[in-house]
Amino acid sequence: MRSFALLSSALVALAQTATAVTGAAEGFAKGVTGGGSATPVYPKTTAELVSYLGDSQPRVIMLDRTFDFTGTEGTATETGCAPWGTGSGCQLSLNKNSWCDNYQPNAPKVKVTYDKAGVLGITVGSNKSLIGVGSKGIIKGKGIRIVNGAKNVIVQNIHITNLNPKYVWGGDAITLDNTDMVWIDHVTTSLIGRQHIVLGNNACGRVTISNCKFDGQSTYSATCDTYHYWGMYFTGSNDMITFKNNLISHMSGRSPKVAGNTLLHAVNNYWYDSTGHNFEADTGAKILVEGSVFQNTKTPLEAGGAGKVLAISSNGAVCSQYLGRVCQANGFGSSGTLSGSDTTFLSYFNGKNIASATSYATAKNVVNTAGFGKI
Ligand SMILES: *[C@@H]1O[C@H](CO)[C@@H](O)[C@H](O)[C@H]1NC(C)=O
Repeated sequence: MRSFALLSSALVALAQTATAVTGAAEGFAKGVTGGGSATPVYPKTTAELVSYLGDSQPRVIMLDRTFDFTGTEGTATETGCAPWGTGSGCQLSLNKNSWCDNYQPNAPKVKVTYDKAGVLGITVGSNKSLIGVGSKGIIKGKGIRIVNGAKNVIVQNIHITNLNPKYVWGGDAITLDNTDMVWIDHVTTSLIGRQHIVLGNNACGRVTISNCKFDGQSTYSATCDTYHYWGMYFTGSNDMITFKNNLISHMSGRSPKVAGNTLLHAVNNYWYDSTGHNFEADTGAKILVEGSVFQNTKTPLEAGGAGKVLAISSNGAVCSQYLGRVCQANGFGSSGTLSGSDTTFLSYFNGKNIASATSYATAKNVVNTAGFGKI
């Protein structure tokens, strides 16, 4: 009897560790360990989830249900603005930090009612793994924030959704700022008010974003066409981002906007169905795009940006000296072009952990592998 009890508890422990982090980060955040071998915890309420994420213990936090934050902080009704008109498909904006007053002074004023929980995400401390179980790990109505010096965090296999999608400034799904060593993997984001993922102006250090699905479909959009404008925003002061095997679909802009001092290695991603621009390369951006597919995307790169862009076509050999391998050509189907032949920043890859790359033909398979519920 006793040995049976020991055996079954060993089996439970095995089952729990088997459902923790799958695989390992490739690229710049290689070596990230998150909560490491901490005994997994299974929060049951939004309060428990907030507590586990925010405390100072290393933790492996398993999500086996939906955590619905809508209504947990009440609603607010205020005066906002309608910069893109009051059509039924248009996003409105909250007057957050006087944004309407400062940047849209001529926009019509409108009444806005929003869910307060969505505006600011859950604070995540250092040494955490936040892992969804199967396709059960859903956080509704609130995002997550890895900020203020928190580092060594893994987020895998969860879905963040429904952050006041009607309103700009209604909430960001994933925020990084003043951090280092973060791996975001197999995460789906949908129905977001502002940014699907934002790396703020402080240094975010070494970051890998892989196998994620950024779904821009929304009833409300800044371009009033069901395509979300605010995709990814990478403007940190000292950031290195590996962005691999992601599906970026149904966007109309800023997917991503890159500036600050950001080295972005975009490899084997699938940009699909976009009515506006994908890359916005502003001052300080250093962007290498390889092995990726642009399918039905109107403007892969917004014209006129001051950032540095190298988009690989037949010139893959230029990478060898710096990445230790040839880079892969990008592929285009019914899409605009992606120009960019700046090689002056390739030396930044020297000595770093570099993600591998395969042919763009394989990147199309990302539609089958990206997002939560696929591992
Ligand atoms: C995270 O883990 C590292 C390595 O074990 C440790 O040095 C650090 O103090 C931890 N951070 C926190 C906030 O517990």
